[in-house]
Amino acid sequence: MAQDNSCIIAIFGASGDLTKRKLMPALYALFRQGLLPKNFAVLGTSRSPFTDEAYRKRIIEDVVTYAGIKKSEQKQLEPFSKHIYYLAMDATDVSHYDDLKDKLSKIDSAEKTGGNYIFYLSTSPSLYTSIAKNLGKKGLAKEGKDSSWRRIIIEKPFGRDLESAQELNHDLQRIFKEDQIYRIDHYLGKETVQDIFALRFSNGIFEPLWNRNYISRVEITAAETIGVEERGGYYDHYGALRDMIQNHLLQVLGTVTIEPPSFFDATDVRNESIKIFQSLRPIKPGDVDKCAVRGQYTESVINGKKVLGYRQEKDVAHDSMTETFVALKLYIDNWRWGGVPFYLRTGKCLPSRVSEVVIEFKRTPHHLFTQDELCSAKPNQLIIRIQPDEGILLRFGMKKPGAGFDIEEVGMDFHYSELVDTYIPEAYERLILDCIMGDATHYARADAVEACWKFVDPILKAWEDDPEVKLYGYPVGTWGPPEARHIFDSPNEDWRYPTDHLTTDGDFYELK
Ligand code: BG6
Repeated sequence: MAQDNSCIIAIFGASGDLTKRKLMPALYALFRQGLLPKNFAVLGTSRSPFTDEAYRKRIIEDVVTYAGIKKSEQKQLEPFSKHIYYLAMDATDVSHYDDLKDKLSKIDSAEKTGGNYIFYLSTSPSLYTSIAKNLGKKGLAKEGKDSSWRRIIIEKPFGRDLESAQELNHDLQRIFKEDQIYRIDHYLGKETVQDIFALRFSNGIFEPLWNRNYISRVEITAAETIGVEERGGYYDHYGALRDMIQNHLLQVLGTVTIEPPSFFDATDVRNESIKIFQSLRPIKPGDVDKCAVRGQYTESVINGKKVLGYRQEKDVAHDSMTETFVALKLYIDNWRWGGVPFYLRTGKCLPSRVSEVVIEFKRTPHHLFTQDELCSAKPNQLIIRIQPDEGILLRFGMKKPGAGFDIEEVGMDFHYSELVDTYIPEAYERLILDCIMGDATHYARADAVEACWKFVDPILKAWEDDPEVKLYGYPVGTWGPPEARHIFDSPNEDWRYPTDHLTTDGDFYELK
């Protein structure tokens, strides 16, 4: 029997930032495209006192602001907002869950949603366990004999280290079965990250080359121009390794490197990606310095304007040793990737916002032709641009027209923006829809989360405990500390810099 996708999405933390910036705009986009089930409802809950009507009004305003809808088109949001309800409650107080149960049941009868509920925890991670327990105590986690279903979505961070992640998984799994738990990693919902599967597994030309015999190195970058903005309090306890590498970048790595699954479903795809995470070569405590470099942005002057450094940001300790930049070298010890170095890099306050994967191919075994300096310095590269300007670029050498055989580097460039009528959905749209349809392929499984923590834990430990490990300052607007090159095997190697440094006036120095 086909699954009934009708459901209520109950959002905890409904007056928070994520709800207004991402969740509601994503739900509205799905509604507008006719992708939500015919019978659906959204129930927002938080401590703030709202009536259903007042909350609907607020959501309309938020969606107008964050989904870039013209004020004149605001009327179109009304049919969507009619499916939105609100309940003021304290999520940590189990007695409030009777009201929740009651409200859900009333909405369920009114909207005919078949008793199917998704609980979206858009709250501080410190509340995950208590919300899950309270849902469990009131019987809200239990799926009905009548085939009604219950799912829970949680946002990263899933713990702060291996131990806390194991504890969280254990607590959640005592209440929900693993196939009811959807751990969202929004990078897995990005269209261009998903396109890596299509590129690899639907094209005859790439897959035969996709291994250690032809690929010499791989770079994965997620660079941001923004700093920590209003999130200093959270960020100062996490840092870039926990915030970006442990989840987003390792998940992208998994997508680039997994073996072809037998079927494209949640079980097979995730069974393959866990093998990658378990094959990550452990970094020994004494080797952390050789394969990981951390940095923190410092104040600088850009175009004559002073820009604050990380330690001057709101809610950040003035002597903080939290990293806002990480460069990391790792190896995957398996048959396909043995010996290929993978370089991961992420940072805040860099010169441009760009996330990309660079696959670098081995050079020809013998140079027949003269190559200009630029070309001989750059081997063939396949660049998967995750964002912005989503697309794929292949760089290779061609003969310069005219006498002789001079080789020049050229590129074959595909931009999604060139496709007519193409709408690239936001990651949250795709992932929420997947959860409604019961498809967890692009959600992180418990074992994968733990394997990724197991890999990063020794780095975290060395950074926290070893005073010898340096933290390098880099002025806002630069590509991170120059020491990020120290992890390369050869001094001739370098990162790809999609744009230059900004014109900044600031010094590079070690932070203590
Ligand atoms: C979030 C991190 O998960 O991803 C943020 O917590 C980061 O610090 C963001 O800014 C980056 O996402 P995107 O989609 O803008 O690359």
